[in-house]
Amino acid sequence: MLTAENLSKSYGGEAVLDNVSFSLGADETLAIVGPSGCGKTTLLYLLSGLAQADSGAAFLGGRRIDRTSFDISIILQDYGLLPWRTVIENVALGLKIQGVGAKERTERAREQLVELGIAGRDAEFPANLSGGEQQRVAIARAFVSRPRLMLLDEPFSSLDALTRERLQRTLLDVWKKRKVPFVLVTHSLDEAVVLGKRIMVMSSRPARPVAVFDNPGFGDESIRDTEGCFKLLKELRHTVEDLW
Ligand SMILES: Nc1ncnc2c1ncn2[C@@H]1O[C@H](COP(=O)(O)OP(=O)(O)OP(=O)(O)O)[C@@H](O)[C@H]1O
Ligand SMILES: [Mg+2]
Repeated sequence: MLTAENLSKSYGGEAVLDNVSFSLGADETLAIVGPSGCGKTTLLYLLSGLAQADSGAAFLGGRRIDRTSFDISIILQDYGLLPWRTVIENVALGLKIQGVGAKERTERAREQLVELGIAGRDAEFPANLSGGEQQRVAIARAFVSRPRLMLLDEPFSSLDALTRERLQRTLLDVWKKRKVPFVLVTHSLDEAVVLGKRIMVMSSRPARPVAVFDNPGFGDESIRDTEGCFKLLKELRHTVEDLW
């Protein structure tokens, strides 16, 4: 269970996040949408423990999240792969930090890459991979350490529509197997409906949650074709239009 309690954060006296509170169950996912620059990435940093809130706190499984919360994986806006490391080394990196032995690291990294649909590229460098392939590697790296929470910052925004839909499906498939809760920031309402069991709409800066939608059709592979999806998208669009 993830809980955020009254998180606030300012930069240089300017409020970015204003009393953000929400909770997320162990078998849930949360999609966050909000205007550009409102503070979504900042919120993910606070939830990962990489940055500290000015006030308020976040908890995972009852433990306060801080710099030593190694059970949380974050995928940053630009994939965050190390260009001088090969694909397999990039994926295995987190396991090394966890103290997993070399042989097991390689085995687990390879299995994870296969699960993400990118086999046979282990020895290549990220620069030789397409954007979609690099994103698969980044997701493999996040999952391989068996995190208790995943944070994804617009992971598919730079991909073409088809690659994007494929990767959304891959993420959903892996989630169904692992049931690792995730928080995903996106600019796409469509993506929010596909990947969020709950969808939180943020206001413009300083960001605070203005609405949280339940998405009963979440997990359905053909959710895009359902009546419920059309309705939810319409509601989301109205909420967003009124705000921004
Ligand atoms: N380290 C920092 N120092 C100063 N200001 C910052 C810092 N990080 C973010 N900001 C400011 O905080 C605000 C929120 O930034 P943030 O990156 O969280 O927005 P965002 O919602 O993720 O935007 P986008 O949708 O464009 O990715 C912006 O105005 C940004 O300039
Ligand atoms: Mg951002």
